[in-house]
Amino acid sequence: MKNSNCDVNLRKVAVIGCGFVGSASAFALMQSGMFSEMVLIDVDKDRAEGEALDISHGVPLNRPMKIYSGEYKDASDAAIVIITAGAGQKPGETRLELVHKNVGIFKSIIPQINECNFKGILLIVSNPVDILTYTAIKLSGLPENRIIGSGTVLDTARLKYQLGQHLGVDSRSVHAFIIGEHGDSEIAAWSSANVSGIPINSFCEMRGYFNHEEAMIRIADSVKNMAYEIIEKKKATYYGIAMSVKRICEAILRDEKSILPVSSMMHGEYGIENVVLSMPSIVGKDGIETKVPITVNENECTHLMKSANALKEVISELEF
Ligand SMILES: NC(=O)c1ccc[n+]([C@@H]2O[C@H](COP(=O)([O-])OP(=O)(O)OC[C@H]3O[C@@H](n4cnc5c(N)ncnc54)[C@H](O)[C@@H]3O)[C@@H](O)[C@H]2O)c1
Repeated sequence: MKNSNCDVNLRKVAVIGCGFVGSASAFALMQSGMFSEMVLIDVDKDRAEGEALDISHGVPLNRPMKIYSGEYKDASDAAIVIITAGAGQKPGETRLELVHKNVGIFKSIIPQINECNFKGILLIVSNPVDILTYTAIKLSGLPENRIIGSGTVLDTARLKYQLGQHLGVDSRSVHAFIIGEHGDSEIAAWSSANVSGIPINSFCEMRGYFNHEEAMIRIADSVKNMAYEIIEKKKATYYGIAMSVKRICEAILRDEKSILPVSSMMHGEYGIENVVLSMPSIVGKDGIETKVPITVNENECTHLMKSANALKEVISELEF
């Protein structure tokens, strides 16, 4: 199926980088049935080919789909190109410490996408995701709405999961966001958090919890440090992010206009400019339709500024 106004095949997805995150995302996408064609690309061609073979053997047990390893030209008409290429964090390493290695990798990947005259949506997953989304915006020349960072979609899922466990309620009924950097300076936006419209603290009290300050600090810290904990135990995180990738692709492909905390360029929201970070945004067929700057209290706003400044400091060291 072709999009009416350009050369985009709405049934096709490409994944660049087929390590833990790329292969788990490809597996989740295969199971979703959203696409009928998927191309896997990696500098390690054997890796891409092996993953394509392995994942394609699930096809007869799911739905027809063409899955193969390929080149950048194979991605030219994909509706969504997902970049997960790059080094992952080593135990104890912060996301921001990956920056120079992975910006270098993006400097080799983005020009190859540019050469394809790509018309779809670019979804950046590699870390540090905010810096690399900024890098992709600067290097690709694509309209900003078509460049999405997976941002704090995963962190927000971790927050909702933990709150669901804590309160004994379906985590889908919890409405709360992690905003700012996907990393050490991220912010749990407690002041807008609620469970089906009931302010979070009132709902906690309904469930017999009154020590709000202690619980908020404990849960936000646990969410922030979750990647470190998982990496310490099993070297990498990939299932949670794979589901986040699937969710973002679904919002785009089905033009859902879902509100997801993806990362994108800030243009004066909360007085923040020229930095990419996560903010709830409406996501649909054109990528990011608009940001939804949720209400934050003074303390959250101060931390959001700090988060933006931490990212700006890293950006100031980069050359494009
Ligand atoms: N955004 C998130 O929430 C999130 C969550 C988990 C991991 N990550 C990030 O995803 C990235 C991948 O993690 P991983 O665990 O899959 O790492 P990995 O080392 O298992 O895989 C990385 C893959 O990238 C490939 N690669 C390297 N340079 C390339 C290039 N120039 N072109 C194409 N492919 C290239 C490698 O060959 C490898 O297969 C890391 O940066 C990690 O920090 C992001």
